[in-house]
Amino acid sequence: MVGTLPMAGKVVIITGGTGGIGKATAIGLATMGARVAITGRDLARAEQAASDIRAASANPAVDAFAADLTSQAEVRRLAVGIMDAYPRLDVLVNNVGGFWAHRHPTADGLERTFALNHLAPFLLTNLLLDRLKARPPARVVTVSSGAQSMGRIDFGDLQGARNYSGQRAYNQSKLANVMFSNELARRLEGTGITANSLHPGVVRSNFGAEDQARWFAVMSHVILPLLKTPAQGAKTSIYLASSPDIERVTGQFFANGKPKNANKIAYDPDMTAKLWNVSAALVGMTLVTLATKPGGLT
Ligand SMILES: NC(=O)c1ccc[n+]([C@@H]2O[C@H](COP(=O)([O-])OP(=O)(O)OC[C@H]3O[C@@H](n4cnc5c(N)ncnc54)[C@H](OP(=O)(O)O)[C@@H]3O)[C@@H](O)[C@H]2O)c1
Repeated sequence: MVGTLPMAGKVVIITGGTGGIGKATAIGLATMGARVAITGRDLARAEQAASDIRAASANPAVDAFAADLTSQAEVRRLAVGIMDAYPRLDVLVNNVGGFWAHRHPTADGLERTFALNHLAPFLLTNLLLDRLKARPPARVVTVSSGAQSMGRIDFGDLQGARNYSGQRAYNQSKLANVMFSNELARRLEGTGITANSLHPGVVRSNFGAEDQARWFAVMSHVILPLLKTPAQGAKTSIYLASSPDIERVTGQFFANGKPKNANKIAYDPDMTAKLWNVSAALVGMTLVTLATKPGGLT
């Protein structure tokens, strides 16, 4: 039965599949026959979500991994676990992201929004790139936000150490998602691996609940009924991960299943390359490796 479905035989990794948009994305892609691996911080919660996804999709091929992606050591451990588990990888959906009203340092001494929303997908993608390249075509889908349009990359204070605002940190990280995706697409030209980013819409989920902005807590009761369901919010991720129509489309930002212009900084190759190099240094990847190693960490 699963063998006749459009994503049969494909292996898809979705970060943050225990709830919200990630879980709905996992249900959608598992229903299309993919083997789906989800991640979350807590193994029991991730296993429970995997069990829910198996039931909802009627596909037994759903696996769970646990890693706190604010920690680079955990990102590296997750990448090793994924590579041990899967000889092939077809799609990576970088979905995990969060909002924090106050500044929180990570185990690596970085600001949490930048570390989780940008550096974690940057590092995980680079660590899995050889596996994705091994059997093209493959896809990297990165969940950004409409907030990218208000973003500004403050290279002088990327970690919000001098002046933190939750909204500014979030906007910056979501712009970084689009810049990363566009730079990745440029670096992967001709490999058969595509990289696209997206805005899922405003979705009813657990988003931002750990340290909510006061205005959001007040407003959320009012706007809750207007928000998309996670299944609606997952549609563009599922489309980018699976549609044959866009097999060769790369370096684009999507919303509501359609390409859309993103923040103009995301199309500036000097800025995207600068962010790439700064990010590489922050995760301990060397520029020599980036520039020269064939098929390596590019
Ligand atoms: N909701 C919206 O309106 C909206 C709008 C625009 C963009 N987005 C973007 O959509 C993406 C998904 O958001 P969502 O609304 O589905 O959020 P959510 O409901 O809060 O789900 C977040 C997922 O990420 C996991 N996660 C959170 N912190 C983690 C960490 N430190 N390490 C590893 N996993 C972690 C959570 O798993 P555990 O808690 O089990 O660890 C959960 O599976 C994010 O990138 C967000 O920026 C959302």
